[in-house]
Amino acid sequence: MTNLTETGIGYTDGDVDTNIHNNGLTLGALVEQRYSRRATLQRGGAAIVAATMGGSVLAACDSKVDDLGAAPTVGAGTDAATTSGRTVTLTGTSSGGTDGAGAWSQISGPTVTLTGAAGATASFLAPSVSAATALVFQYAVANAAGVTTARTTITVSPAVLGFTAVAKNKLDVVSVPAGYTVSVINRTGDPILAGVPAYKNDGTDTNFAGRIGDHGDALYWYGLSTTGTRDATSSTRGLIVQNHENINQQYLHVAGATSVGGVRPEAEALKEIECHGVSITEVTEGANRAWAVNATSTFNRRITPSTPMVFNGPVKGTDFLKTAFSTDGTQGRGTINNCANGTTPWGTALTCEENWAGYFRRASTDVAGRSAKELAALSRYGVTSGSGSYSWSSVVAADTSNTLFRRWDARVSGATATDDFRNEPNQFGWVVEIDPYDKTKAPRKRTALGRMGHEGCWPGAFVAGRKPAWYMGDDATNEYLYKFVSNTAWVATDADATDRLSIGDKYMDAGTLYVAVFNADGTGTWKALTFGSNGIDASYGPYAFASQTEVLLNPRLAADAAGATPMDRPEWTAVNPVTGDVYLTLTNNSNRVTTADTPSASQRRTDAANPRVYVDPPSTSRGNRNGHIIRLKETGNTTEATGFTWDIYLFGAGSDLDATNINLSSLTADQDFSSPDGLAFARSSHAGGLVKPMVWLQTDDSAFTDVTNCMMLAAMPGTVGDGGARTVTNTNAASVTSTQATRIGATPTAATLKRFLVGPLECEITGVDSTPDGRTLFVGIQHPGENGTPAAPSSHWPDSQATGTAGATVRPRSAVVVITKNDGGLVGL
Ligand code: FEO
Ligand code: CA
Ligand code: CA
Repeated sequence: MTNLTETGIGYTDGDVDTNIHNNGLTLGALVEQRYSRRATLQRGGAAIVAATMGGSVLAACDSKVDDLGAAPTVGAGTDAATTSGRTVTLTGTSSGGTDGAGAWSQISGPTVTLTGAAGATASFLAPSVSAATALVFQYAVANAAGVTTARTTITVSPAVLGFTAVAKNKLDVVSVPAGYTVSVINRTGDPILAGVPAYKNDGTDTNFAGRIGDHGDALYWYGLSTTGTRDATSSTRGLIVQNHENINQQYLHVAGATSVGGVRPEAEALKEIECHGVSITEVTEGANRAWAVNATSTFNRRITPSTPMVFNGPVKGTDFLKTAFSTDGTQGRGTINNCANGTTPWGTALTCEENWAGYFRRASTDVAGRSAKELAALSRYGVTSGSGSYSWSSVVAADTSNTLFRRWDARVSGATATDDFRNEPNQFGWVVEIDPYDKTKAPRKRTALGRMGHEGCWPGAFVAGRKPAWYMGDDATNEYLYKFVSNTAWVATDADATDRLSIGDKYMDAGTLYVAVFNADGTGTWKALTFGSNGIDASYGPYAFASQTEVLLNPRLAADAAGATPMDRPEWTAVNPVTGDVYLTLTNNSNRVTTADTPSASQRRTDAANPRVYVDPPSTSRGNRNGHIIRLKETGNTTEATGFTWDIYLFGAGSDLDATNINLSSLTADQDFSSPDGLAFARSSHAGGLVKPMVWLQTDDSAFTDVTNCMMLAAMPGTVGDGGARTVTNTNAASVTSTQATRIGATPTAATLKRFLVGPLECEITGVDSTPDGRTLFVGIQHPGENGTPAAPSSHWPDSQATGTAGATVRPRSAVVVITKNDGGLVGL
């Protein structure tokens, strides 16, 4: 409560209850008196009423006031309607002259923060509501004669997608809807540590352990307080933790990669290795909503394939992890091919090792010294390359004790496993937990979650007293969906612990790994990958399991034994924060055949959960060309469930494709997409993630690229079972048709699915998160111009962002785009 003098208004918002003229009639009472009279006079908008009331109230107040002249004539604008997450501007008017400054306050409705309340123009963000809700605001102006108020009612309805769909295009820019601004941070090569020189982007740069890596992928925001401590609620200062999955090798060197007689130069290999891994950078919002990286922040950190790490969980310290570097099997070095991610409520980041298998050199002759089971596992995981990606193991290091190159040679060459790197492939394929707030702590590889081609590792809801779970896609053709359920029930106060990795030990080092079986009737089962159950024992022919350690080391083989459902390449998982539904992108599958076909060893027939086989011209390839997004609802909506129901939320397809058998979701030109990959629901800390949460869908496509670059869409999905049964007719290469029954979600509408962003040439869109307030969105743009050459780059992004072009030899770089809405509202709403 603040006293109002006769010469000015001293309050900024809230209910007013202020003595005026010492006559015992408070301003609050005065206002109420006027407002009740306003009600009797009201015929329309508040502004009209206020204008009518301006002087007449004074007579009712105190005749002494009349001696002071006319009180202000005030308007509060017309009543209006809006939806959650949008910026609302209130504009007050007054008769001017001797009037004092006006001020806005909120009278009723869910409390909002009024910006600029001590003036004629105030604004606020419409709050999240689940039904139309009235918010009443008052504009008050005083002069020597008194105070006059006017009110306006803003009716807020639940959030809806609030942008015009972006058209498909093949421009060399990031295209976003009108009313949004794009800026660029964290480009490949940007220096993030002290003393690292500016990036020249001509192939001569070195020291990527102090620069942003290449192929930025999944990312997540970790808030910082003004004093530099963890603050999960901060939306203006935080850490961006981003994966660096792979490299555009050709652009990292002056004239592309070189080798002499098959031997790679050490400096080139070192650069390529250091471009992989994870980056942690501090970002802040400055004036005019300009976001910048603090290049000298002590939080900035690169984690590379050479960074010391430790193993945790059941496989730690076993013979399987022993190498010439890690002679006791407890230590490791680095992480590689980090694709999607995960998070925890205690403030750590999860990074996932996806296509690690290809980095290792083996040979068909690498048999002696290997057991039959080892060979079966190496084959099942695809550790079969004769050179390893980028041939790093060919380097003859100047320092002969340096094994950072030799380690990529997994051939048996020494007397025992601790004399060579035959087990180095076992050190990868894990989920790795990182404390982004503490660079002194080595990341921990969580072996309880199993070893596979981990795409991502997204948690379900954390409910006190219930065991939490993480959902994990294994991205390779015909691989599986997994779930890890902790042995330990959630204790909410653990979210605030300061020794964050020890909380990871508590929840992520012991639990049950499950794999999904999708039944034709729309139900499903989580089968435990537990030694001795579900056929996972010594009797399993392809791999005679002897322990749970072997199960966690080789869950693909265990899932084979358990009869898991082979999927169309499981990518990201995401969990709807309101319904609990678990979404999984299935990006595509060139090895899916019809039920009329006899599958080869690498092919699988359609089933209800992977129901399509077709051709998407101009390619003549057949299979699930455009991918789909499946979702499941846990029985009892609990992370501990062992059963679920499922349907297919969306099928990717061009809008021109057959709506009966291919474009099953009836996608329009504003909605069509191909090869879904990145997938993330809006945070539940803002209106986009409440009531009917928004989900971002990102593509990594090569089937629709004749029409458009990769993209990101925004959607507001319903829930499992909101559609129905469908039968698809597939056609094989011999023109033989066959039918496949499936289950499909409700057809999207223009209000529930539309394209928000199209990326530059030859990119993939991957990685998305917002600040907790939802007003700033960070999106990863990966490998623009991936098919070009150093002499003729096929994209010039991000240099091309402003005009669509740049110098003909300007090399492209992966980067993060920062997207804000020009009126300050929530991105997407
Ligand atoms: Fe790295 Fe499966 O995408
Ligand atoms: Ca991916
Ligand atoms: Ca992908």
